[in-house]
Amino acid sequence: MEMAAAGTAPRRFSASSAIASLAFVLAAVAACSSFGAEAAAACLSHTFSGGSGGGGRLYASCTDLPRLGAALHYNYTAATNTVSVAFRAPLGEDDGWAAWGINPSGRAGMVGTNAVVAFRRANGTLAAYPTVLDSYAPTMEPAAPGDLAFPVSGVAAEHDAEGKEMVVYATVALPAGEGSKFTHVWQRGSAVVNNVPAAHPTTGDNVLSTATIDFSQ
Ligand SMILES: *[C@@H]1O[C@H](CO)[C@@H](O)[C@H](O)[C@H]1NC(C)=O
Ligand SMILES: *[C@@H]1O[C@H](CO)[C@@H](O)[C@H](O)[C@H]1NC(C)=O
Repeated sequence: MEMAAAGTAPRRFSASSAIASLAFVLAAVAACSSFGAEAAAACLSHTFSGGSGGGGRLYASCTDLPRLGAALHYNYTAATNTVSVAFRAPLGEDDGWAAWGINPSGRAGMVGTNAVVAFRRANGTLAAYPTVLDSYAPTMEPAAPGDLAFPVSGVAAEHDAEGKEMVVYATVALPAGEGSKFTHVWQRGSAVVNNVPAAHPTTGDNVLSTATIDFSQ
């Protein structure tokens, strides 16, 4: 449109269209910032209902993660260098799984991540345990304590009443001397086969679900 008008349009039209464009840009900026404010508030308004494992827990901080519709709630204790987390991921189907972890190498990727994973077993009970993602095809088996790069305790899971969300709880003793800022990685998958979480999609948001987090903030 601008190119078609360029040869013939008098200047006054250009001026008014410039003002219209500016108004549009300002409106778009306003819309984006109010959207951003709402997004930042989403996890803050979440309350943990207090079913089986969760017991209506409270966390001092939370962040809406930029991929997969997930959120992380956390309590960081500098004195003991520990962080208690509740990772929430939307899970439409009963047989899906959710996982969250820290990659102690600092690499923004799954390999090397020490994770906690949760899913519903074939017999209907919830499984939740730490696991080491040592390759792009990890076993997803429970880690022995010696396999983990840092101690993880209090691992539990909750699947909300409508089955729409999986929550994984854990307390992580953070690696010493590395401050409070870490690379974290999260994931969800739609299938569990023989009580083992099956591979997630390897495109799009499923391979972009990593970020750095400063637990002191
Ligand atoms: C998080 O810290 C707050 C404030 O100290 C405390 O009330 C709450 O119980 C803690 N939550 C967990 C899950 O430890
Ligand atoms: C379900 O399976 C798990 C893992 O095999 C087992 O530990 C648990 O006892 C079973 N629970 C029931 C209610 O069958």
